[in-house]
Amino acid sequence: MISVTIIGSGNVAQHLVSAFAKSDLVEIVQVFSRQKVTSIPAIEPSKIVSEYTDLKLVDLFIIAVSDDAIAAVSSQIPFANMLVAHTSGGVAMGVLDSKHRKAVFYPLQTFTKNKPIVFSEIPICLETQHQSDYQILETVAISISQKVFSINSEQRKALHVSAVFVNNFVNHLYQIGNEICIENNIDFEILKPLILETSKKIETLSPKQAQTGPAKRNDNTTIESHLAFLNNENQKEIYKILTQSIQENGKKL
Ligand SMILES: NC(=O)c1ccc[n+]([C@@H]2O[C@H](COP(=O)([O-])OP(=O)(O)OC[C@H]3O[C@@H](n4cnc5c(N)ncnc54)[C@H](OP(=O)(O)O)[C@@H]3O)[C@@H](O)[C@H]2O)c1
Repeated sequence: MISVTIIGSGNVAQHLVSAFAKSDLVEIVQVFSRQKVTSIPAIEPSKIVSEYTDLKLVDLFIIAVSDDAIAAVSSQIPFANMLVAHTSGGVAMGVLDSKHRKAVFYPLQTFTKNKPIVFSEIPICLETQHQSDYQILETVAISISQKVFSINSEQRKALHVSAVFVNNFVNHLYQIGNEICIENNIDFEILKPLILETSKKIETLSPKQAQTGPAKRNDNTTIESHLAFLNNENQKEIYKILTQSIQENGKKL
């Protein structure tokens, strides 16, 4: 068994604890929570600690805390030469304290504490400072997911930026669509099959192949009428920028 301690008790930490609880290869030794949290699903309360001095030696520490706290938390682990991984998409591996063997264990999904998730389908992006540590990190990752990738810090940054476009920005566009529906007394429910079909298409088509709509077809009369319909300047700007981007993309070979 590979012994692992999770530092943090937020969204990612709790999902990791639940996922590892089902693994035959990984034993969660402790969970560190700075606020004396007494109950985390899938872990005995006696294994939850809130003092760094109570941490035991393990094969791997996974730090799942807010991005800005990762560096300081890694310094607080009261041992040296430990394998220590953080779980962030946006933070370089280098911020971890240099007394440790640094690593990254980045699950590329959006996590919310009480929203169940199928961990086996979540891509986990791994990076280790030392090649000799990669195998242990990979074994831990494979024990909970079928999708494990070696991704360096530069690639992870690119992935994180891509994720903001395909997840956060797309969701914001749903919000704008919802607002337009509300203003016009339309149930947003009517748009849901379209949203689902658009995301399903990505399984079989490239985003460029899947693109449809007035911008793709250069239907300028429709585009002008949409712009005239919108009375919110912010929505107009977003519509113009995205229309232009789709049209420019259409010109590329
Ligand atoms: N949520 C996601 O969708 C997602 C996806 C992939 C990767 N990640 C990454 O995973 C990490 C954790 O994200 P999360 O969403 O799980 O965050 P979260 O739910 O906000 O939880 C953050 C945890 O960090 C702890 N913490 C914050 N500052 C600390 C400090 N100075 N010392 C000790 N503990 C501290 C918090 O403790 P308190 O409860 O006491 O404040 C809490 O347990 C981040 O690096 C994030 O980038 C998140």
